[in-house]
Amino acid sequence: MIQIAPSLLSANFLNLEKDVEMVNRYADLFHLDIMDGTFVPNISFGFPVVEAIAAKATKPLDVHLMIVHPEKYVERFAKAGAGMISFHYEAALEGSAALIETIRGLGVRAGIVINPDCPVQAIFPYLPQVDFVLLMSVFAGFGGQKFIPETLERIRAVRWELDRLGRQDVPIEVDGGIGPGNAGEVVAAGASILVAGSAVFKAEHPREVIEKMRV
Ligand code: DX5
Ligand code: ZN
Repeated sequence: MIQIAPSLLSANFLNLEKDVEMVNRYADLFHLDIMDGTFVPNISFGFPVVEAIAAKATKPLDVHLMIVHPEKYVERFAKAGAGMISFHYEAALEGSAALIETIRGLGVRAGIVINPDCPVQAIFPYLPQVDFVLLMSVFAGFGGQKFIPETLERIRAVRWELDRLGRQDVPIEVDGGIGPGNAGEVVAAGASILVAGSAVFKAEHPREVIEKMRV
């Protein structure tokens, strides 16, 4: 099953309720990008916005942490209503195993994320533990960037390793530059959760874009 996770980074913040309702009706997950201006050179939104979305959301919140010291904040995001939390391996390094356990202990699905320049082998030690993997197909920090084609090979490599470990049930999520034009190849490579920000929210008919991505 393919899941579409619109990234609210590209939503209309003056009319957020309308965009939340759209996701509730037509998509599967709320992808919420949390940026701290340190791990990435951009700042997005924080707890008040996440809590406001949680109050209206009927689909799970998928919180993507692009912050240093993610271990300091996972409990608060769990309390704010996250159903999935992913953190960057580059921000946690050898703390990754403990952090996955912390997130899972909070009753939240735990994911590990890597940027396009991090070798996929770096996260192989955590694949027996995680609930999902998030592969960036652009460098984390900004919406509206172009999909990096080498990501397809990286998806295949992680899918192969998960399958080898008997973890066929663990989904790969892909984030950055995804839309109806490349969703098919991303899914064919082995991903099943597609994040899309600008493709969905800058479209005249977001519902049609979401349906076209369900390849
Ligand atoms: C980038 C974020 C993405 C972003 C995707 O750092 O993690 O989730 O919002 O936006 P698009 O789909 O426009 O590339
Ligand atoms: Zn994201």
